[in-house]
Amino acid sequence: MCSSRDSALPETLYARLFARFYDRFMNRIETTVLLHRRKRLLRPLRGKILEVGSGTGINFPLYSPGADVLAIEPSRSMMQKAEERMTSLGFSRNAGSSPEIRTATLGIGDPELENLVPPNSVDAVVFTLVLCTVPDPEYAIRFAKSRLKKGGKLLLLEHVRASTSAGRILQKTLNPFWTRFAQGCNLDREPVSLVRAAGFRLLEEDRFRDTLPFYQAIYESI
Ligand SMILES: C[S@@+](CC[C@H](N)C(=O)[O-])C[C@H]1O[C@@H](n2cnc3c(N)ncnc32)[C@H](O)[C@@H]1O
Repeated sequence: MCSSRDSALPETLYARLFARFYDRFMNRIETTVLLHRRKRLLRPLRGKILEVGSGTGINFPLYSPGADVLAIEPSRSMMQKAEERMTSLGFSRNAGSSPEIRTATLGIGDPELENLVPPNSVDAVVFTLVLCTVPDPEYAIRFAKSRLKKGGKLLLLEHVRASTSAGRILQKTLNPFWTRFAQGCNLDREPVSLVRAAGFRLLEEDRFRDTLPFYQAIYESI
C-alpha cells in the first residue's frame, strides 16, 4: 500500500528533465557497482524505515516484506518517477508479500516532516547518494539520530571526498559545474565525521573506488 503527502513547489524544466533521465544516466554504475551494495544494506531491514531523498525509488524493490518504509523526496518530478516505479512493481496488489512503502514529497528541513516522523520512532534511516545533495548534511544526520530508536540503524551508501590530494583538487575544480549539472550534488562531501559526532557506533564500513570514491556503512544509534 502507498499513500502520498505533497507540499512541493513547481519545478524548473531542468529539474524535470534531470528526474526523467536520472536512471538512464546512472544505469552503468548502478548495474556494475551499486546495486549489489544496495541489496546488501537494505534486504535485512525490518520494521519502520525512513528513506531520505528516495529519488526515482531505485531502492524500493530491494526492501523485504516486513519493511514499513516512509520514503521522503522533495522533488515532485523525482517522486513521480518513484510512484511510477511502485505501480510497475505492483506492490499495492501484493500486500503482505511486499514491503509497505509510503511516500511524502518532503525534504529534510521541512517542518511538516518533524510532525510526520516522531522522535525515537524508526528502526532504520537510509541515505543512499543523498548526503551529497541535502543542503545541510549535518542537520540531516542529527535529524536521523533524533528519529531513530536506541539501537536503530543508519545505513549509508555515498560518494565522498577523494583520499588523494590530486583527487581532491580535481573534485574542487569540477564541483561548481557538477553541482549545477546534478541538481545540487557535491563531489567532495565527507559525512563520516558528522556521523561519528552525532552519536553513532560503527558496525561496519567499506571505502571503495569505482569512477568515484564511495563510502558504505552501517551505524547503530547509541
Ligand atoms: C542523487 S539523488 C539520489 C536518489 C536516491 N537516494 C538514490 O540512491 O539514487 C539525490 C536526491 O536527494 C534529494 N534531496 C535534495 N534535497 C533534499 C532534502 N533536503 N531532503 C531529502 N532529499 C533531498 C534530491 O531531490 C534527489 O532526489
